[in-house]
Amino acid sequence: MTAPIAHVDIYAARRARLAAQLGEKGEAGVAIIPTAPERARNRDSDFAYRHDSYFYYLTGFTEPNAWLVLDASGRSTLFCQPKDLEREIWDGYRLGPDAAVAALGVSAALSVADLDTQLPKLLENQHTVWYPFATHKGLETRVDSWLNTVRGRVRFGAQCPAQQRDVCGPLDEMRLIKDAHEQEVMRRASAISAQAHVRAMQTSARRLRAGQEVREYHLDAELLHEFRQHGSQFPAYTSIVAAGANACVLHYRADAAPVRDGELVLIDAGCELDGYASDITRTFPANGKFTAPQRDLYNLVLASQEAAVAATKAGARFVDPHEATVNVLAQGLLDLGLLSKSKHGTAQDVIEKRAYFAFYMHRTSHWLGMDVHDCGSYVEPSELGQLSDRKDPLSGESIVNRPSRLLREGMVLTIEPGLYVRPAADVPEVFWNLGIRIEDDAIVTSQGCELITRAVPVHADEIEALMRA
Ligand code: GLY
Ligand code: MN
Ligand code: MN
Repeated sequence: MTAPIAHVDIYAARRARLAAQLGEKGEAGVAIIPTAPERARNRDSDFAYRHDSYFYYLTGFTEPNAWLVLDASGRSTLFCQPKDLEREIWDGYRLGPDAAVAALGVSAALSVADLDTQLPKLLENQHTVWYPFATHKGLETRVDSWLNTVRGRVRFGAQCPAQQRDVCGPLDEMRLIKDAHEQEVMRRASAISAQAHVRAMQTSARRLRAGQEVREYHLDAELLHEFRQHGSQFPAYTSIVAAGANACVLHYRADAAPVRDGELVLIDAGCELDGYASDITRTFPANGKFTAPQRDLYNLVLASQEAAVAATKAGARFVDPHEATVNVLAQGLLDLGLLSKSKHGTAQDVIEKRAYFAFYMHRTSHWLGMDVHDCGSYVEPSELGQLSDRKDPLSGESIVNRPSRLLREGMVLTIEPGLYVRPAADVPEVFWNLGIRIEDDAIVTSQGCELITRAVPVHADEIEALMRA
């Protein structure tokens, strides 16, 4: 049996908010939102099923082969798998249309086998059809075929929708602000992930102290243990467990490399809990004790993160934490000699010429929510028309800038500065192959932000104390 759907009222309220946006200028509109397909991993074996985030946001329903159709009057129709004893023996319990109305609070529920006959009826006499663009392979073709059926009835007086719109637009704006329920789930997901990082750190030091071999996959196993032990359904993304120089590969996966005494380990891992992601990175000494150069570089990344955290509050721009990070990193790279003052000048020069990019080549933040890189525009919608030009100092390319998004209470973003030092003749050798990132998840509040991932420490002394324990 699947668990009963909790918080039916929350999903109903979201559907009502979306429905209110479907009719433009009083015209009728209808939205079609499928869940995700099942995907084969190899013969007879599927990838673990993960629902579509938009569909889940509006229904709380996690079965595959389901569709939501919602019209501007607020009427919702769910299409779901019919009850089928034989299939349920093989694949598991199905809610079925009869139980779905009460369980999900939708207006009506039908078998997904009836989709092609029912959709033209639901589209008839609507002005606009909304569906997610470019996210579900083949969806446009199916919508076209339903619309063609409606067109075939025009001579009998039916009206065919004249407009097609991307339903992700209004849904992205809704998902960008996390309500109290979402924030609570994200706090719980973060607490589990933080505990998993603690466990991996402690395992690394304990095994090395005991003279045991440690490989990246041993630490990955500790993360997974903790995620599943606390009810997380999956990792929210493929975990990065990168020992030594592997930390300089931004999209490295947990592999089989040995974790060596004296090296750093970078772990970027977070669990998904009840549909919501967490996303934490910690970098720690494999044996529990930072060397002096490791600590210097670590403290620089941490100082840049502290500056970014201080810049994260309602009313600030999305780009502000990134700019705060870069200001600190630029000065620190000069002070530690990774960039030479004689060649690169001042921190301002380093920023203007983007010289820091050799060591810090990604952005500081992304939205976080149901998807680890969550939906939502990074441009402020109320200032869309305000354009400015700049030339990229490295590529010379012209870039049109639009104003960065204003942060609002309830938005959730990561704050994840890093430095990645590859061997190079003009870089002090003590820093070669060090890759450091520190990533926390922040809920924007009126006065600042709430860091929901700090149950795993970030200060070097606290990490060392934890790893001694
Ligand atoms: N773990 C993915 C990211 O940090 O963006
Ligand atoms: Mn991230
Ligand atoms: Mn991450």
